[in-house]
Amino acid sequence: MKNSRINIDLVLKNAKDSKRERTLGLFDLSIMGIGAIIGTGILVLTGIVAATAAGPAVIVSFLIAGFASAVVGLCYSELTTSIPNSGSAYVYAWVAIGQRMAFLAGWTLLGVYITTLATVANGWTGYVKASLSEIGINLPTSLMASPSNGGIVNLPAVLMILLITFVLTRGTSESKIFNNVLVIIKLAVILLFIVVAVQNVNVNNWTPFMPFGVRGIFSGASLVFFTFLGFDALATSAEETKNVQKTLPKAIIISLVVVTTLYIVVSIIMTGVVSYRQLNVPESMAYVLMAKGHTVAAQIVSVGAIIGILAVVYAFVYAASNIMMSMSRGGFLPRGLSKLNQSSKSPNRALWLIGSIGAVLAGVSNVKQLATISNVGSLCVFFLISLIVVLLRREQPNLERPFKLPLGYTIPVLAMVSCLVLLVSTTLDAWITYLIWLVVGGLIFILYSRHHVDFEQATSEDDNSSDKKAARDDQSLQSNS
Ligand code: ALA
Repeated sequence: MKNSRINIDLVLKNAKDSKRERTLGLFDLSIMGIGAIIGTGILVLTGIVAATAAGPAVIVSFLIAGFASAVVGLCYSELTTSIPNSGSAYVYAWVAIGQRMAFLAGWTLLGVYITTLATVANGWTGYVKASLSEIGINLPTSLMASPSNGGIVNLPAVLMILLITFVLTRGTSESKIFNNVLVIIKLAVILLFIVVAVQNVNVNNWTPFMPFGVRGIFSGASLVFFTFLGFDALATSAEETKNVQKTLPKAIIISLVVVTTLYIVVSIIMTGVVSYRQLNVPESMAYVLMAKGHTVAAQIVSVGAIIGILAVVYAFVYAASNIMMSMSRGGFLPRGLSKLNQSSKSPNRALWLIGSIGAVLAGVSNVKQLATISNVGSLCVFFLISLIVVLLRREQPNLERPFKLPLGYTIPVLAMVSCLVLLVSTTLDAWITYLIWLVVGGLIFILYSRHHVDFEQATSEDDNSSDKKAARDDQSLQSNS
């Protein structure tokens, strides 16, 4: 079988035909970036990483992960400004390498989005529990935690994912105002924590600073990398951005600088208020505030976290359904998965499939396991993105690149090295889970995808065309039967 590539002109033509309005400026895009990046990670993982991997040196882990995200983000900018396409890594791999790699990238992204939404929902329960117990309601641990954390199932996470999936099946309306309000809530929670908790910092808690050594810092970095995921979502807005060649890279850097600063300040304070040994809890921000008697602030933080995290799950179920739809249009996954519901215009089959897998994962795994798996997949995709920048420069030297990374190949090479360093610092278990996901994907590719690939539909940005095609396919099936 030939490992065919998509013709780059076809992708460019479809991008031109899709003609979205350019409405996003630097401020909008930076807010979007901050909103997409800040989520469960900072609220849930910081404490766990400090307690189990890096100690107070978790701040160095954040710096390393932030640097890796910045160089990868810049690589994304070069690709999305020259080939705008919402299929992202999956389409770039198809253009630069071939359909097998495209499938691998799409399949990995799908797995990443599903594990990310499961991670976020799983961590959310910590704040639900804290919030309820602050008002005297203590639900049984068996229904609030996964088996690895001494429970049976993390029921709130399961229910929350199913509820959000249901909401998405009723149709999506993207609201800039709603998104901005949520960003403000998340930022307010973090700022409140900083302002209240800073009074209780005791510098003695920062010693020892590196209880788990340099190794701990790197394994911490590979875990807190999760807190930066979402910056890649910015890259998919290239077509809607004004003056994209300047705005996009600037917005990526601004959002990363803002969130890295916040993450570092939060972790300095968290590990300064209590000993890092006490932080192995998912609701670490509320826990730290409660430990020092700031009950009201802890309650506000918990409620803000509950609302903010809901929005992150919503965004990732939505992103996962987009990539599943793209792959289904391209013939890699059954065509029915890109079929839109008549009234809501949502891909309901894809949504329910994603919601169900996510709910099961969130119900039975723990937040650290899930985040690690999500990171392995993301880092592999980011490595691929950086590699594609290099490959495309060699193979398509004349491609118009509105934003071209300076310093030759330095930044893509730094990005690849950063991804590799973080990948080798991660756990074997996460690698094994990712490999199992790839084996399942490989079987789907061999048994199904390679017989159904459709170049034209794969690159189309027009939802209606794929829906019409799905309807056509249904009709021809009916008339054949
Ligand atoms: N960066 C996102 C979060 O931390 C995925 O929740």
